[in-house]
Amino acid sequence: MIPRITLSADGPSISRLVAGCMKWGAWGKQLSPQDTLRLVEQCLEIGLTTFDHADIYGHYTTEADFGRALALQPSLRDQIELVSKCGIRLVTPNRPENRIKSYDTSKEYILWSVDQSLRALQTDRLELLLIHRPSPLMDPHEIAEAFTALSAAGKVLHFGVSNFTPSQFAMLYELFPLVTNQVRASVRHLDPFLDGVFDQAQRLRLAPMAWSPLGGGGLFELPGDTQARRIHRVAEELGEKYGLAFDQLLIAWLLCHPAQIVPVLGSGRFERIQRVARAFEVELEPEDWFRLWQASTGEEVP
Ligand SMILES: NC(=O)c1ccc[n+]([C@@H]2O[C@H](COP(=O)([O-])OP(=O)(O)OC[C@H]3O[C@@H](n4cnc5c(N)ncnc54)[C@H](OP(=O)(O)O)[C@@H]3O)[C@@H](O)[C@H]2O)c1
Repeated sequence: MIPRITLSADGPSISRLVAGCMKWGAWGKQLSPQDTLRLVEQCLEIGLTTFDHADIYGHYTTEADFGRALALQPSLRDQIELVSKCGIRLVTPNRPENRIKSYDTSKEYILWSVDQSLRALQTDRLELLLIHRPSPLMDPHEIAEAFTALSAAGKVLHFGVSNFTPSQFAMLYELFPLVTNQVRASVRHLDPFLDGVFDQAQRLRLAPMAWSPLGGGGLFELPGDTQARRIHRVAEELGEKYGLAFDQLLIAWLLCHPAQIVPVLGSGRFERIQRVARAFEVELEPEDWFRLWQASTGEEVP
């Protein structure tokens, strides 16, 4: 069974692996409500209870697809945690009022967006809401006011951000108790290990969430990609040592970091989600962790 984690001292308890739903609908697998329901039920069987959404997925359609699946089996709602995001305005026929891609973190927009998400997901609450991207125009006081109102209304139980720098995170954290920062992190994308995001998470004892934990799927397409080739070469050797396949090893690499990283898996196939759960069975030796780091950067650490 996949273990659980509490994101912060007062934060939500979620599964240590999260299912990312970005490609379950129009942006990928186009799962039917029945297929989605089956996938959710299979995830629950292995202890994966947390599902990551954003209003924009599928050009603002994937939350509603998931909601239709939940409506087929309403008792599932109390067995899962729903994460969603807001703040990006996409140009799409589904939002004709958006004339240029932009960010909106105004109080009015956040409140409106959450109501849309709740309606689409056919639920009365989100366990976790994230501001999807930091806006150059964001006013932390206004975001905190929106979060306070959503919390008071019982529409959102916990709040966080995504893709925030440490200083952007600190600015909002001073005004409101955030529980996580969801950032891109994998053997392929090392930024949060170096830019202070994971340092801050450890200092504040908040578990960060990692999107694209397998590099967004790009690591499976080798031709011409020298970084991917280096990572595969090392991963093959380590895979033999630990008895792990490539994807399992990459997730194990994230899991053994002391920041308590929570990978948000992007696969829409249960076999792949289930396989990755084996990553909990091993602890990589530090030298092996650094071998993958070196394979990623192409050089020794200084
Ligand atoms: N906060 C943000 O700004 C942000 C941004 C992007 C994504 N996200 C969240 O993070 C989640 C994960 O992102 P991601 O999709 O980039 O994650 P990922 O897990 O790194 O990549 C998933 C992709 O890899 C493929 N894949 C997985 N295992 C594979 C294997 N063993 N062999 C070959 N291909 C494999 C999947 O295809 P199959 O589906 O066919 O298995 C899928 O296309 C999203 O669903 C979303 O919830 C958040």
